[in-house]
Amino acid sequence: MYTLVLGALYLISTAYATTIGSIQGPTFLSAYDGQTLTNITGFVTVKGSSAFWLADEKFDDQVISTGITVFSTSPAVLGSVQVGDLVSLNAKVSEFRPASRPNDLHLTELVSPTNITVLSSGNPIVPIVLGRDRSPPTQYLSSLDSGPDGFLSVPANQSLQDMPDRQLQPASYGLDFWESLEGQVVTIPTPISLGFNNFFKEFWVRGDWGATSINSRGGLTITFGPDGIPDANPEAIIVGTPLDGTENVPTALGNVYEDITGVITFQFGFYYVLPFTAPKVISSPNFSVPPSAIGPSGAGNVITVGDYNVENMAPNSSHVPAVANHIAKYLNMPDITFIQEIQDDSGPTDDGIVSANLTLTTLVNAIQEESGILYSFINIDPIDKQDGGQPGGNIRQAFLYRAERVKLLPGTPGGALDSTSVREDGGMLSLTLNPGRIDPTNVAWTRSRKPLVAAWETPSGDTLFTINVHFSSKDRSSSTQGDARPFVNGAVDQRTQQVKVATDFINSILVLNKDANIVIAGDFNEFVQTRSVYAPFDGLLAEIDESSGLDPVERYTYIFDQNCQQLDHIFVSNAIAGRGTLVEHVHVNNWGSDINTRASDHDPTVARIIVS
Ligand SMILES: *[C@@H]1O[C@H](CO)[C@@H](O)[C@H](O)[C@H]1NC(C)=O
Ligand SMILES: *[C@@H]1O[C@H](CO)[C@@H](O)[C@H](O)[C@H]1NC(C)=O
Ligand SMILES: *[C@@H]1O[C@H](CO)[C@@H](O)[C@H](O)[C@H]1NC(C)=O
Ligand SMILES: *[C@@H]1O[C@H](CO)[C@@H](O)[C@H](O)[C@H]1NC(C)=O
Ligand SMILES: *[C@@H]1O[C@H](CO)[C@@H](O)[C@H](O)[C@H]1NC(C)=O
Ligand SMILES: *[C@@H]1O[C@H](CO)[C@@H](O)[C@H](O)[C@H]1NC(C)=O
Repeated sequence: MYTLVLGALYLISTAYATTIGSIQGPTFLSAYDGQTLTNITGFVTVKGSSAFWLADEKFDDQVISTGITVFSTSPAVLGSVQVGDLVSLNAKVSEFRPASRPNDLHLTELVSPTNITVLSSGNPIVPIVLGRDRSPPTQYLSSLDSGPDGFLSVPANQSLQDMPDRQLQPASYGLDFWESLEGQVVTIPTPISLGFNNFFKEFWVRGDWGATSINSRGGLTITFGPDGIPDANPEAIIVGTPLDGTENVPTALGNVYEDITGVITFQFGFYYVLPFTAPKVISSPNFSVPPSAIGPSGAGNVITVGDYNVENMAPNSSHVPAVANHIAKYLNMPDITFIQEIQDDSGPTDDGIVSANLTLTTLVNAIQEESGILYSFINIDPIDKQDGGQPGGNIRQAFLYRAERVKLLPGTPGGALDSTSVREDGGMLSLTLNPGRIDPTNVAWTRSRKPLVAAWETPSGDTLFTINVHFSSKDRSSSTQGDARPFVNGAVDQRTQQVKVATDFINSILVLNKDANIVIAGDFNEFVQTRSVYAPFDGLLAEIDESSGLDPVERYTYIFDQNCQQLDHIFVSNAIAGRGTLVEHVHVNNWGSDINTRASDHDPTVARIIVS
C-alpha cells in the first residue's frame, strides 16, 4: 500500500498524468486533501446535475477506488465533457462533509476544475460487476465496532471512522468496502429490494452476491453471525435518485429488479448507489399474506397472546379497520392482546384529555365487526404529556381480552402515579393494584411509557401475570454508517434502565413462586442482539422466538434502513418456556406492496403458551 502512495507522489511530481487512484489512495481520507493538482486524467463515466464522475481505465486494485466525483454546478463545465471522454483537468482535492451533518463520512471530491481538455472521445465505460469482480463483506461495518455486541456495543462513539491514514480493509468491513468503491461505476446484478422506499423514493437493495441472514422474503435480518457477534448487514446499499432525472417507483420488500448500474457515493449518512436511470422491477413476491396458523385452542390451560404496536391510533384514525381486521382475521382473536400506541380520545390534539376510552371502544367495536367477538379492554391514563410520543397524543399500552376466557383477578385499578406490587394470600399471588403500573415515578420512565401490568385467572384456574411495555424509542440515533463508532443507539441507556426496573418487578413475583406464569411483551424498541440491554433477563425469561425454535432470520417485526429487525418481543418465564410455546410474526404490514398499504410500521405477533 505504501508503495502505491509513494508511486503516486512520484507521478504527481513529474510531467505525467495524475491518476484518480493516486488521489483516492488506500485510506478513508485522501492524502491530497486541500491540494490543487494538475493534469488529472480520467474517463468521464456519468454526468449528473451537479457533478460528473471520472475513473481510471483500470480497477483491479481491490483496496483503492479509481473513481471520483468532480463537483460543479456550472453548465459550462458540465457541458464541456461527455460520457466516454478521456479528459485532463486541474482541480482541488476536497474531503467534503456538509456542516449540517457533522457525523457523516467525508466524500473525496475534485472541486473547481479548470483547464478541462478532452483528449479522446467515445471510450467504453466498464462497470465493476459486484458479485463477480468483488463482493461486499457480510457481517461487520467497521473495525472500530469491536465491543462484545459488535456494531450494537455500548458505550457508543468511542472513536471516529474518518481519521487521517485510516487504512481500508474492504474484505472485512462494509464501510471500508463501499469506501473502496467511492466514485466508481458498479453494476449490481439482480438486486432485491430490502424494504419500502423512503420519502425520497430511495430504497435499499442487496445484489446477487454471497449475503448472509437472508429471510424467506429475501430481506436481511439482524441476527448473530457465526462468531456470535451481531451481523450488521453491510452487504446492502441504498439506491438514490437516478442521475438521468427519472424517478424510482414505489417498492416493497422482496421486489426483484433488472441489474442496476450506477456510481457509488456517500450522502445523507450512508453509502449510496446513484443509478444511471430508474431501476425496473422484474418480479414481486405474493403480496397476499396468510393468516397465522395459531388459533384459539379451546383448552383452559392454553392461552393465545397477541402483540401489536398500532402506531398512534386515535378514534378517527383511518387505520382502525385494517388493524381490527388484522387482529380478528390474521391473529385469530388472541385471548389477551397487548397493544401499544393507543392515543387519547382527542388523538394528537393537545387539549389535556388523557382518557382513551373512546379510542379503545372504537377499536374493539371495529374488531367485533370483523369477528363477532367483543373484546374487553383495560389501560391506565397517563399524566398529560409525561409519557413521550407524539405531542398531545398521550400514547399508552392497553390489554384487549376475551372476558369469556380470562378474568382479571380482583383488585383496584391503579392510577398513573401508583406503583403496583405482588401480594401473596393463602398461597395465591395477585397484584395490590390490578391493573397497575410498575414503579411509575422511577426516573427510568421519564418521558416514556410506564409498563402496564395485569394479573389474570385462566379458564384452567391458573394465574398469569402480563406486563405490557413500550420502552424509549431509538429517535436521535446516529447513522449506522456514520463517523461515530460504534454508532449512537438513541436512548439505549434508558432502555437498559427500563429493563432493570422491569426485571426487579419480575423477580418480586419469582421470589414468591419460581414457577409463576409471566409474560412480558410489547415494543422494547431494541434488538435482542443488543445483549447489554437484556442482560438482566438472562436465566429468568426466555424470548418466545427462542423457546419456540423460530428460525432466527424470521424474527422480525420492523424494517429500518436495510434491516429486517425485531423491536417487538414476547418474553416468558421459565415455567411457560418449559411447557413449549409457539409464535408467529404476521407480516401484514411489512409484506405490503407499497408503504401506503400498511396500517402500522410494526408487524403484529401471535403466540401460544401453556399455563399448567
Ligand atoms: C499529462 O499527462 C500525460 C500522460 O502521462 C503526459 O503525456 C502529459 O505530458 C502531461 N501533461 C502535462 C502538462 O504535464
Ligand atoms: C492545460 O491542459 C493542457 C492539456 O493537457 C496542457 O497542455 C496545459 O499545459 C494545461 N495548462 C495548465 C495551465 O495547466
Ligand atoms: C462523538 O464524539 C465526538 C467527540 O469525540 C463529538 O464531537 C460528536 O458529536 C459525537 N458524535 C455523536 C454522533 O454523538
Ligand atoms: C398468494 O398467497 C395466498 C395466501 O396468502 C394464496 O392463497 C395464493 O394462492 C398465493 N398466490 C400465488 C399466485 O401463489
Ligand atoms: C382526526 O381528528 C383530528 C382532530 O380533530 C384531525 O386533525 C385529523 O385530521 C382527523 N384524522 C382523520 C383521519 O380524519
Ligand atoms: C367509555 O365509553 C363507553 C362507550 O362510549 C361508555 O359507555 C362508557 O361509559 C365510557 N367509560 C368511561 C369510563 O368513560
